[in-house]
Amino acid sequence: MILLSLLLVSLSLAAQVATVGGGRFQKGDDPAWSEYGFDDSSWLEVSFDQAWETLGLERVNGIGWYRIHVVIPSSLKKGVVEAIMLDMGAIDDSDQTWINGHPVGKTGTFPEDPGGYSSEYGKRRYYIVDPRWVRWDQDNVIAVRVYNFGDPGGFYRGAFNLVKPSLKDFAKLSLVADQGGYKAVLASSVKTSGTLDISITDVMTGTPEVSRKQKVTVGAWKEKQLLYPLAPQKRLKLTYTDPRFDEILEAEVCAPYILTPPAPAEPRYNGPLVFGVRPGSPVIFRLAFSGDKPMKYAVEGLPEGVVLDPEKGVLSGSCSQAGDYPLVFTATNDKGSAKACFTLKVGEQIGLTPPMGWNSWNCWALSVSQEKVMASAAAMINRGLADYGYSYINIDDAWEAEERTPDGRIEANEKFPDMKALGDWLHSNGLKFGIYSSPGDFTCGGYPGSLDHERQDAEVWNSWGVDYLKYDWCGYNKIFEAGRDKSEAAFIRPYLKMQQFLREQPRDIFYSLCQYGWGRVWEWGAFIDANSWRTSHDINDSWESLYDNGFERQLGLHPYAGPGHWNDPDMLIVGKVGWSSSLRDSRLTPDEQYTHISLWSLLAANMLIGCDLSQIDDFTFNLLCNNEVNAVNQDTLGHQAHQDVVEDGMQIWSRDLYDGSYAVGIFNLNEVSVPVRLDGALAKIGLKAEKARDLWRQKDIETDSEYLIPPHGVLYVRVQSR
Ligand code: GLA
Repeated sequence: MILLSLLLVSLSLAAQVATVGGGRFQKGDDPAWSEYGFDDSSWLEVSFDQAWETLGLERVNGIGWYRIHVVIPSSLKKGVVEAIMLDMGAIDDSDQTWINGHPVGKTGTFPEDPGGYSSEYGKRRYYIVDPRWVRWDQDNVIAVRVYNFGDPGGFYRGAFNLVKPSLKDFAKLSLVADQGGYKAVLASSVKTSGTLDISITDVMTGTPEVSRKQKVTVGAWKEKQLLYPLAPQKRLKLTYTDPRFDEILEAEVCAPYILTPPAPAEPRYNGPLVFGVRPGSPVIFRLAFSGDKPMKYAVEGLPEGVVLDPEKGVLSGSCSQAGDYPLVFTATNDKGSAKACFTLKVGEQIGLTPPMGWNSWNCWALSVSQEKVMASAAAMINRGLADYGYSYINIDDAWEAEERTPDGRIEANEKFPDMKALGDWLHSNGLKFGIYSSPGDFTCGGYPGSLDHERQDAEVWNSWGVDYLKYDWCGYNKIFEAGRDKSEAAFIRPYLKMQQFLREQPRDIFYSLCQYGWGRVWEWGAFIDANSWRTSHDINDSWESLYDNGFERQLGLHPYAGPGHWNDPDMLIVGKVGWSSSLRDSRLTPDEQYTHISLWSLLAANMLIGCDLSQIDDFTFNLLCNNEVNAVNQDTLGHQAHQDVVEDGMQIWSRDLYDGSYAVGIFNLNEVSVPVRLDGALAKIGLKAEKARDLWRQKDIETDSEYLIPPHGVLYVRVQSR
């Protein structure tokens, strides 16, 4: 036994690392097991490349402990700081760790914690150990309490290391929005003294405005907070240097900055160039012209049955004859007039460009009401978002009455006094009406789903004038799990069922599947006539979530998108969101928000705004209403971008467009700004151009120049390649 323990600890002094390959293990739970003096000689010797399931034990779900005996050499003490770090690898699922009875860290949560258990089985554990707790050159006990849910459990990645930490391991510099400015937090688990370089530059001009130095000292296990006011359009950069280390710490933030140039006062068309409607279905389309109001509209080439409201610019009526109808839109105000060529495609395919609109979930969640929906709908028109092609007003969960009527009819709850009137109002303004349900007996929010009432529900929605259905798997999961048939067909069946009833209605209903990307929905969504499908779990307003839904979960999905059927990485997380009755500003930085909208534009993703439009601020409006950025999203070819390059924390995504040009997003996923020479970046994806159009700034830029791309930010261009 003792021999094995010794073999499991090997030392490589050159790298100042001790490797620990195993320890002793015991099922059960006892706080005394964290203590140094506890006698664990009867525990099972285990090595860390074996998860619990391979230990010859019974299945161990629940709590188990490791006690790891290790001699920590005082040679690790030498050097600039006295501290060691446990680099323990991943543990399945959550852990709490002590050294010689002193707590050193915890990852994931346990069932007894507030909010219950959450797994962090894939996360690497780095714990800094206070040197006062170490028994130098003697036996130490690292005790690890693990909660496992479902096999396998515990350590499973082999050895872990004791290492001498570097500056980045023990100190962290971060910037968080606070009191209208930014709070810098320098936290350290060892004492550090150094210099903070503070620089403020103007985002638009790149001109440095402030450059100063500040001495800072932070005690062990302490943090220092410093507040910096930051005016709009300014970028703050902090660099921390402790002269004992070569490494530096950096953090950078930016106050909201508007890149989109103001729209001209003359009319300008900003909408899609095609719209699909089925023969005989109502045409609901609002001409999207920006410019001073009032405006007068005219349309040439309208087929019989389709009419224009020349004051509102709204097309209505229907056309029974399939075919492509080339139209010319004209809008006139007292500053001038503009024309746009457009095709009304009367045929089987709808959703020819990704849907643009609003959904209630990311702001109001279950607190949604008709009044709140109307407030956003009115703002879509009054604040001018409808002039940029936004047209869907979609109610998510929580509109449903708790009980169906005795004959099984679904009704709206008391928060929605008149769904039909809401639908009529939207249509009379050229906006479209969306609703939400589930193929299960209950929705995610616990309201009645459509199970066994599919036909009835489709008919009710038709009577209200519904144009879009988000159909959310949710309550269907327990039915699926309880069933014997787990085939792909069983997964598809409930969606197919609703599709038939939607198609029986005398109107077009955009069919949006929501089942979080399960069952490789992109492979069959289009075949069951779905117009879009969620490709991932719910988004939230964090960089991690944006990164996962937007970059990771879209890899390789471009072949499945096209006119009529789109990959949906979930709704937009800009502006005032909150998933409750109290809203807050999106936690994404301005640069992350530029990345978000650029990426959704490249991905031909559904553009459903998730914030309260009645409270939209100028930054968010300009982010959502850049006609050149939106034109890529709405491009008639419908080719979703693909990832072309991943290099040094940078990613390049590109797509080809109907006019032969390319939209290219160069994304900086690093924590600091990175200069990029544009022609070099374009060459990596086989493009050659002298000029590129910066889509956010809407100006042509030289390609033989270097552009600084902010952390988590983007350079988004359109190029005509030679
Ligand atoms: C699921 C969906 C969300 C939202 C909620 C409503 O979580 O993925 O987008 O519709 O349900 O309850």
